[in-house]
Amino acid sequence: MLRRRSGTPATGPGNPVHPWVVPCQHDAMDARTLSNGTLWLSPPTVHDIDTITACCREPSIGEWTTMPVPYERADAEKFVFDIVTPGWADRAPTWALRPAEHGPVLGMIGLGPLYLPRRDRDTAEIGFWLSPEARGRGLMTQAVDLVCRAAFDLTGFAFERLEWRAIIGNHASAAVARSSGFHYEGRLRGGGVQRGVRRDLWVASRLHTDPAGPADGWPPGV
Ligand SMILES: CC(C)(COP(=O)(O)OP(=O)(O)OC[C@H]1O[C@@H](n2cnc3c(N)ncnc32)[C@H](O)[C@@H]1OP(=O)(O)O)[C@@H](O)C(=O)NCCC(=O)NCCS
Repeated sequence: MLRRRSGTPATGPGNPVHPWVVPCQHDAMDARTLSNGTLWLSPPTVHDIDTITACCREPSIGEWTTMPVPYERADAEKFVFDIVTPGWADRAPTWALRPAEHGPVLGMIGLGPLYLPRRDRDTAEIGFWLSPEARGRGLMTQAVDLVCRAAFDLTGFAFERLEWRAIIGNHASAAVARSSGFHYEGRLRGGGVQRGVRRDLWVASRLHTDPAGPADGWPPGV
């Protein structure tokens, strides 16, 4: 479940951002820019604020995430300045999905901290959304694949476990998680709070040892 993160972990204090590389089709790139030649992921910037605002006003995004409804321009400003920027300095990176290296924002994907109850620094929660115009083309599955490679890279973020959580009934998100190698683990009753209302969640995970590609074992109807 994509959460509004209030400042979170890419590389912690004493662990400066280093130019680690993610294998991709053409060049070695650092973690801030990931690409498979079709899709580009890079941090959202101040220039993306109007597009993010327009995208996040789309009802299906509010329906399945904890983002504010109604979504105001100030929410996108807060996201870029208070979540994205500190997140990259604290092992909680956010990337915008783009159709070209400097193209417009199509969606967002990020890794946030998990507290169990103290922060588990080897685990992150993955969250994402796509504008409706960009859906139905498998772009989010490609983005999750790129982010998983970066997340598990031992010379980079080196996470051991990524967790996916979604409000029960979010079949499109579950399809992305399943296609991206996440293994279904069950339901968390009242596991999340969406704008003041406690919601049941589905939960799945991918470990650094799990292969990419569709995972087995998802129950019918999820
Ligand atoms: C989740 C999201 C990123 C998926 O985007 P997408 O991959 O382009 O969506 P698609 O339309 O291609 O659907 C992906 C899969 O879900 C399936 N799907 C889509 N809508 C569905 C629905 N209502 N019921 C069941 N399956 C659905 C598609 O058939 C597809 O399956 P496939 O991979 O086996 O072909 C997008 O729907 C979204 O941004 N939703 C709103 C925000 C959100 O839910 N974020 C995730 C929070 S956990």
